[in-house]
Amino acid sequence: MATKITLIPGDGIGPEVTGATVSVLEASGARLEWEEHIAGTEAFETTGSPLPEELLSSIRSNRVALKGPVTTPVGKGFRSVNVQLRKALDLFANLRPVVTVPKLPARFENIDLVVVRENTEGLYSGLEHQVVDGVVESLKIITERASTRIARFAFDYARRQGRERVTAVHKANIMKMADGLFLECFRKVAEEYPELEADDRIVDNMAMQLVVHPERYDVLVLPNLYGDILSDLCAGLVGGLGVVPGANIGEEMAVFEAVHGSAPDIAGQNLANPTALIRSGVLMLQHLGLQDEASRVHAALQATLAEPSERTRDVGGEASTTEFAEAVVRRIEAGS
Ligand code: NAI
Repeated sequence: MATKITLIPGDGIGPEVTGATVSVLEASGARLEWEEHIAGTEAFETTGSPLPEELLSSIRSNRVALKGPVTTPVGKGFRSVNVQLRKALDLFANLRPVVTVPKLPARFENIDLVVVRENTEGLYSGLEHQVVDGVVESLKIITERASTRIARFAFDYARRQGRERVTAVHKANIMKMADGLFLECFRKVAEEYPELEADDRIVDNMAMQLVVHPERYDVLVLPNLYGDILSDLCAGLVGGLGVVPGANIGEEMAVFEAVHGSAPDIAGQNLANPTALIRSGVLMLQHLGLQDEASRVHAALQATLAEPSERTRDVGGEASTTEFAEAVVRRIEAGS
């Protein structure tokens, strides 16, 4: 029987990279049935909501979704669909593996770290108001429950994947209560995993460490905002936003999406690199227990990225989105 997956093409480069990813995943032999749903501006204009209820119930029933990026209006308009989706489905962990791609030109070699970002609270609580004219308050929410849950997720992940160390990132020297609680929960959970090394870094120092010695880090666990910022920084270390995958994971459901956004500057031009979403698709196949299919896609993707002439422009090649995807599909079909 085919596995049903909710597909959200998104906007900007979303439809281009999701189209490419669907063709690659289907070539792997995985039996997947897609249930497509719109989100963002298009959904807002046609249904009155940027995150229609049908989309949410489709994910609740399928438990797995593949999502392209969705544009968020700046300063006004509806709240981020991405933030709302993660909250509505309680997708509390955002997992972003940042791994050197062999032969791909990048600033560093031998990077193999994982960013685990808390996805449901922190400064993304959406609680903002004007106190008086010219004064705005934006609330940062940190709870013991969410901090403990994300720390446990990071340590469990590290244990399962045979990793050695988990580093908490915070600003508890300044936000003594909020980040202090996050750190305290991390330290308590760490005691349950004596075989794993546990340490912490202040976020500004971490930003510097990551651009000087990224190879020294293993699993990082961060509150929402720091995780958002540092995962883009980490993407830059291994070839850019076009290559880094992601997953939003809850107790019951998971939504797989790239780290990057809708890239309006290159949208509609067949220029986007679909690697990040294809790799998110590999994480999805692994999550579904389709290990052979995942390995086939991974191997074909690495082989294609190793060929400079077959890469997309953002990583030094000339290929279009569709040409790149076709090259990956050809390799999967050839079994190489
Ligand atoms: P962005 O990630 O869309 O683009 C940043 C830069 O990276 C641009 O120069 C873009 O061309 C390039 N880039 C991104 N993905 C690429 C790819 N696959 N191939 C080649 N180049 C790529 O970030 P930006 O411009 O800050 O955000 C644009 C919109 O996307 C905003 O509305 C933002 O809110 C939204 N966004 C949505 C996300 C999601 O749906 N999960 C995540 C991040 C941003």
